[in-house]
Amino acid sequence: MVAEEIGTTLSQHIIKTQKNFPQASGRFTRIFNELATCGKIISSYVRRAGIIDIAGKRGTTNIQGEEQAKLDVIAHNIFVNRILETGLVAGVLSEESDDIIEAEEEYSRNANYIIATDPLDGSSNIDVNVSVGTVFSLLRRKSPTGERCSKDDFLQPGSKQIAAGYILYGSSTIFTYASGDGVFCFTLDPTVGEYLLSHSKLRIAEEGNIYSVNEGNRKFWDQGDQQLLDYFQGNHKDNDEPYTGRYIGSLVTDVHRNLLKGGIYLYPRTTKNGKKDHGKLRLLYEANPLAFIIEQAGGVATDGQRRILDIMPQDIHQRVPLYIGSKREVDLAGKFTKVS
Ligand code: AHG
Ligand code: MN
Ligand code: MN
Repeated sequence: MVAEEIGTTLSQHIIKTQKNFPQASGRFTRIFNELATCGKIISSYVRRAGIIDIAGKRGTTNIQGEEQAKLDVIAHNIFVNRILETGLVAGVLSEESDDIIEAEEEYSRNANYIIATDPLDGSSNIDVNVSVGTVFSLLRRKSPTGERCSKDDFLQPGSKQIAAGYILYGSSTIFTYASGDGVFCFTLDPTVGEYLLSHSKLRIAEEGNIYSVNEGNRKFWDQGDQQLLDYFQGNHKDNDEPYTGRYIGSLVTDVHRNLLKGGIYLYPRTTKNGKKDHGKLRLLYEANPLAFIIEQAGGVATDGQRRILDIMPQDIHQRVPLYIGSKREVDLAGKFTKVS
């Protein structure tokens, strides 16, 4: 980071970068301000997760007589309501809702963006105080502004993303985003309530020595994936030097660590009871936004063979195998998965 960048807030940064686009209308800036606010609010809930749990145990209903919501539902509601009320986003696709959620007509007249989100990624880790995050992918809608948006608007390859990012609720809250001009991280300074620039034009190491995967699934993997693991563990004819294994089980946190330290995260497909699946992770709101960020940091993201950002989605909740991180390790994964 150069000296004049120190102390730059997220909103200052977005305004400054938007000035480089003569056609920019200020909409992008307003959406980002709202995303930043969502992050602050969800962060404050996450920080009080233990207290919310205690309150939940007193009874199963809250003050309105509704069932006590889990944090991923709370995060979903905060995100969806606030984003749609900007009047700039015609619809949101969320992990927590089977269908897309359209903006009310009064809000959607001028809305030409759509957002796909995993409102709380890694939420099973909440109970044990492990980092989680909100992931988002910003696209332009395909259908004309003013009309109702539909699932079809979301069926676009990740290469069409206008911007993508995540807000990580870790030992600090970090807002990371990319919109075509590199990757930037802003750390929330709780004393001033602002996100301050902490990493500018972040680059991922070309090769790393960390692999992150749920090894418990090994027996369900294709042979190539099993051999890849042997390689990373130094049990392969081409490599006897083990990598470091690091698996948090919260995709956004695992990818963030590897972005800073180099390495690969993988979630391969599995075969259970003779049925091959597509792994666990969702293309539109997990793989695509993280692939967009990692590519802009100089890394690579594939499903083993294809570039993630080139995959044409068929379904809004479609799953995809994911290999993401440093170029050397992801390219290597491609060689192993090819033979399976
Ligand atoms: P979510 O909490 O949004 O459902 O996502 C959980 C995902 C991802 O964050 C993580 O990397 C992966 O599930 C972990 O899966 P395993 O428990 O199978 O390793
Ligand atoms: Mn998730
Ligand atoms: Mn989730």
